[in-house]
Amino acid sequence: MTEKNVFTEMNGSFAGNEAFQKEGADFHNPEAFRDLVKARRSVRKFTDEKIPDAIVHECIDLALLAPNSSNLQTWEFYRIVTPELKDQIIRASFSQPAAATASELIVCVANPASWRFHSRQMLAHFDSLPVETPKSARLYYSKLAPFVYTVGFFNVLTPFKWLFNTVAGLFRVVPREPISQHGLDLWSVKSCALACENLMLAFRAHGYDTCPMEGYDSHRVKKAMNLSCSKKIVMIVGAGKRADGGLYGPRIRFPREQFVKTL
Ligand SMILES: Cc1cc2nc3c(=O)[nH]c(=O)nc-3n(C[C@H](O)[C@H](O)[C@H](O)COP(=O)(O)O)c2cc1C
Repeated sequence: MTEKNVFTEMNGSFAGNEAFQKEGADFHNPEAFRDLVKARRSVRKFTDEKIPDAIVHECIDLALLAPNSSNLQTWEFYRIVTPELKDQIIRASFSQPAAATASELIVCVANPASWRFHSRQMLAHFDSLPVETPKSARLYYSKLAPFVYTVGFFNVLTPFKWLFNTVAGLFRVVPREPISQHGLDLWSVKSCALACENLMLAFRAHGYDTCPMEGYDSHRVKKAMNLSCSKKIVMIVGAGKRADGGLYGPRIRFPREQFVKTL
């Protein structure tokens, strides 16, 4: 039995505009996808060859198509083009070769606080549509999102949210997270990380390689970029044309039985 809740209610359709139901439905190319996923490796040395601007933009655009929680798109992608800033970021990344030799550095950032503005933006978007938006979608962004994602200054609401979830959770299904700033950060980072994978696969599809990096001094990178402390750097993606010796070894993965469980 399915409980009636905001998630089941969200199935309401945009009246009079059913064309979107077919979006993506005809795509079927498992071989190409398998080849692409297998072709992506973390490359640590790149040649001097530049990636054409149009390709970089296309890859970032594809990153922005990643699935993301509540479609609130709490992410930012900074393409670093200023030479002085690039130098600072390379130094803050321990001058690791993947950063130092990359022709492109893209700093991928989670901006959890942007959920509030983006909720309003979504409502304004609904208003601008020529078709009627399901009421449940409006309620989602006007009521549920503020209820779930507001954690208050210095986590002031955390104990109340915990108590509410614990008590209400005895009787019904409740969304347990996020209840704290840390939870909200994690929530935002998850979606941004999915976009990072899109970004790396997109570069590979265009014949370029990438290296995701978290080997950096986040404080220094944020300072150099003038990023507010509420933003979280998820990873820095270096990209470029693979140089000889750019791969440090063959791919290693542990046996799948270790990770894949069937319940
Ligand atoms: C979040 C994250 C951070 C990483 N940080 C670094 C890094 O700082 N430097 C580096 O050389 N590789 C880094 N890597 C790359 C991993 O070492 C690499 O993905 C792993 O060894 C598997 O190799 P593969 O990507 O070629 O399959 C990072 C990967 C991820 C996902």
